[in-house]
Amino acid sequence: MSRLIYVLNGPNLNLLGKRQPEIYGADTLVDVERDVRAVAVEFGLDVRFHQSNREYELIDWIHEARETAAGIIINPGAFTHTSVAILDALNAFDGFVLECHISNVHKRESFRHHSYVSLRADGVMAGFGVQGYALCVRRMAHLIDTKKK
Ligand code: DQA
Repeated sequence: MSRLIYVLNGPNLNLLGKRQPEIYGADTLVDVERDVRAVAVEFGLDVRFHQSNREYELIDWIHEARETAAGIIINPGAFTHTSVAILDALNAFDGFVLECHISNVHKRESFRHHSYVSLRADGVMAGFGVQGYALCVRRMAHLIDTKKK
């Protein structure tokens, strides 16, 4: 089985560290990528790490992952709450899907309580700050390693 995982980040996550630090913290997406890669190396996983503000780019990366990857960790940003198209793309992917939110979306405005992506996700992380990404990588490694062949 492939040991490649995609870590996908949606709109506004390029501003991590600058945008609403009281909610999202001071770490940048570069810091997140460094943490993700450090844990991935521990578990022998390869990582493709991407961010886009454009829905179609996220969808194209999910399609690309269909051919190559064992799992996708995705923080879809606000597309979480709006995008049937991202849900459809994830439903066309056979590997594991983990949904990762930096903030605890359930403690926030009610429009953040619904997630289209959760209809597909094998697990959901929320409110663990940027540390949630590394925890998702650990979980992904476990899912891949214990998958029944
Ligand atoms: C987020 C939560 C979303 O509601 C929000 O639109 C984001 C970030 C999070 O990581 O906490 O952009 O996905």
